[in-house]
Amino acid sequence: MKKENKKQKIMFFLGKGGVGKSTTSSLFAVESAMKGEKVLLASMDPAHNLGDIFEKKLTGKPTAFEDSLSVAEINMDYWVDSYLEDMQKQMTKSYAYLTALSLDKHFEIIRYSPGIEEYALLRSFSFFVRKYTSFDRIIFDMPPTGLTLKFLSLPKLSQIWLEKLVDLRNEIIKKKEIVTKIKFGKKEIERDKLLNKLNTQLDEYSEAREILEDTNRTELVLVMNQDKLSLAESKLIIEKLKFSELKISRVFINKFKVDIPVEELEKQFGDYQIRLYPLYKESITGLENLKSYLSENQFV
Ligand SMILES: Nc1ncnc2c1ncn2[C@@H]1O[C@H](COP(=O)(O)OP(=O)(O)O)[C@@H](O)[C@H]1O
Ligand SMILES: [Mg+2]
Repeated sequence: MKKENKKQKIMFFLGKGGVGKSTTSSLFAVESAMKGEKVLLASMDPAHNLGDIFEKKLTGKPTAFEDSLSVAEINMDYWVDSYLEDMQKQMTKSYAYLTALSLDKHFEIIRYSPGIEEYALLRSFSFFVRKYTSFDRIIFDMPPTGLTLKFLSLPKLSQIWLEKLVDLRNEIIKKKEIVTKIKFGKKEIERDKLLNKLNTQLDEYSEAREILEDTNRTELVLVMNQDKLSLAESKLIIEKLKFSELKISRVFINKFKVDIPVEELEKQFGDYQIRLYPLYKESITGLENLKSYLSENQFV
């Protein structure tokens, strides 16, 4: 697997369902491509709709629309499977007796247990930034708020957990060494497999965390409308992101109507770069319509 391209820009579009994450992330992708960047737009929402916006059937592999614009819909089932397969392999290797316990049945249940989706998303994220290094920018169209926040906090949470597990393992190793000394009169130091595995995982999560927290590289875009519900959810998102030490950098106000004052929003979101996306008479679909919306509203 390739190394990540540290110059590549990464964006996440988040916000309440229906505010226009898919529409504005598509518009932003087309705009960046028109301005000369090579862009990859990828949907992480299991209920994809980039295919509807670009009027083409999409898959987990990028489909090129123009030299500078490719679009993908990340297949969550594939990444859940890949995660579970790895876990199963590691467990059977480490604990041979588990094969007798019919692991398959347990994994069928784990597949539907809470927490799996964010691991799958994190895997797909790490894969995308390592595999698609030739793009100047990768834009992720995110799932509903709950899952997005879990995904964004996962690297930090896992890091905290793993650090505790590494401490615990080190204590166990120390005790084992004392016992070995008493039994054999000499210290037999064998590299601890479990400790190695924990450290590898720790490295992976630290790498993901570094990318997410790198404000020169990664931007979180909060999409909202001018209604109370999306405003409330936006405040919640900003609050919850504090745990992950992540900050929104831009606020996109979509379906904007000129007759509604923006002063209130500017007061609330003055710290962020605000952009207004006017309400269009209908859904903005098809590359040509996305382009004409951008030029009509002087984005390009
Ligand atoms: N600026 C806009 N003007 C008109 N319709 C819009 C605009 N932005 C989004 N929509 C419509 O609103 C609905 C929800 O938008 P979508 O981008 O799918 O939201 P999300 O991805 O946040 O769930 C869609 O029917 C979409 O076509
Ligand atoms: Mg969407």
